[in-house]
Amino acid sequence: MREVTRSVAFDAAWDADRSQSVRGLFDGLAPGWTEGRDTPERALPLVDALERGSVKGRTALEAGTGTCLFTRELCTRFNLVVAIDLSREMLTNAVTSEAPLVNADASRLPFPDGVVDVVILVNMLLFPTEVERCLSPDGAIVWVSSRAEDTPIHLSAEDVETAMSSTPTGSWTGISSRAGAGSWCVLRRA
Ligand SMILES: C[S@@+](CC[C@H](N)C(=O)[O-])C[C@H]1O[C@@H](n2cnc3c(N)ncnc32)[C@H](O)[C@@H]1O
Repeated sequence: MREVTRSVAFDAAWDADRSQSVRGLFDGLAPGWTEGRDTPERALPLVDALERGSVKGRTALEAGTGTCLFTRELCTRFNLVVAIDLSREMLTNAVTSEAPLVNADASRLPFPDGVVDVVILVNMLLFPTEVERCLSPDGAIVWVSSRAEDTPIHLSAEDVETAMSSTPTGSWTGISSRAGAGSWCVLRRA
């Protein structure tokens, strides 16, 4: 997944075959995904990012939600959270129904331009152009790696900033840190 993560972020290397193969992988992992992962420790980096990153807004998009292990926390902080995932099996195994769940590919987000205040990506691929398109002008990206550099889908904060700064709106900037076993960054347009 490391190679896929980098090539999606930097080369937009995503097509139907890759989508199908990633979907198949996570469909297979879905029934056992929640077990051992639904812990406060695992949520620590996300909570820290939201608080120290001063992340506020009305609408949040959680892309790559998996079985929605972080969606309950997000629902306490935003008026509307939409949780999307490529894997229908992941959503079928969701631990909450508090948010609308959408089976969709984040390479083509089912939202108009500029309507989302915050995009949350936890252990998820980065599709820079789509994230940039959907975010409101002062919107924020929250990027979290639950196991920092050991996370299979991982980019450093510098990589996220570089990938986002290749989008039409140009430069992005923000802060990054670590919490528990994880790492995070929060970026906004410069
Ligand atoms: C490593 S899991 C993380 C799940 C959850 N965020 C967590 O940390 O528990 C990555 C998730 O991203 C989803 N995903 C991968 N590519 C995607 C895409 N193009 N669009 C939407 N979801 C995608 C997978 O189906 C999977 O559920």
